[in-house]
Amino acid sequence: AEIVIVPGEAEAGDLVAGAIVDLIHRKPDAVLGLATGSTPLPIYRALAQRIRDESVDVRGVRGFALDEYVGLPAGHPESYRAVIRREVVDPLGLTPELVRVPNGDPAGIEHAGADYEAAITAAGGVDLQILGIGRTGHIGFNEPGSSLASLTRVKTLTEETRLDNARFFDSPDEVPMHCITQGIGTILRARHLVLLAFGEAKAGAIAAAVEGAVSAAQPGSAIQLHPHVTVLVDEAAASKLE
Ligand code: F6R
Repeated sequence: AEIVIVPGEAEAGDLVAGAIVDLIHRKPDAVLGLATGSTPLPIYRALAQRIRDESVDVRGVRGFALDEYVGLPAGHPESYRAVIRREVVDPLGLTPELVRVPNGDPAGIEHAGADYEAAITAAGGVDLQILGIGRTGHIGFNEPGSSLASLTRVKTLTEETRLDNARFFDSPDEVPMHCITQGIGTILRARHLVLLAFGEAKAGAIAAAVEGAVSAAQPGSAIQLHPHVTVLVDEAAASKLE
């Protein structure tokens, strides 16, 4: 992997936004892999600005979110469907019908994973996949123990991840127990992985992902199996790298 240590989140956001604008110029119907959570927000902010300033035509751009909670009421503001709409589709001016999120509705959940895989394949695969990483080492919501060959499926969130994500909800109990997430195998099919992490709390997960043994115990370590990975970290998140 190419490791880039950036002064801060804004610089990381600018770099990735630049790579995405270049990609869209080369391929106006580019397929973006979209992460939620706090980490990618500087990318979406910088990208919205550049699209506006440079009048980039994004009408054909397609997107696939990494994951979704299972069983939140339809329209819940913290469902990733709602978050992707609010943080990505609307500010970037993407075409809503071209941006998909796994379907976390318990009705039909047994085929939601296979449907999502089929949609990604039909789109020709993901060109650039944005990734954050959890303190547990998860990418997507593939918690430790996830098969490195896994595809989109329902998983149970760890207690640690539910507590980390409680900040988005009124109380920790409201965080769903389950999610539907692209598998590690799904993520590895994307043509370019861009993993970002900021802050000391991510330093252990970054060291394990970049330098540790490739193992299901550290899902982030799967990036070592991919030929084209860019890791952008601030000093704090890089602090446990050798
Ligand atoms: C989000 C996702 C997760 C997050 C990770 C880090 O779609 O799949 O892997 O990237 O939990 O979350 P933040 O960025 O909020 O620290």
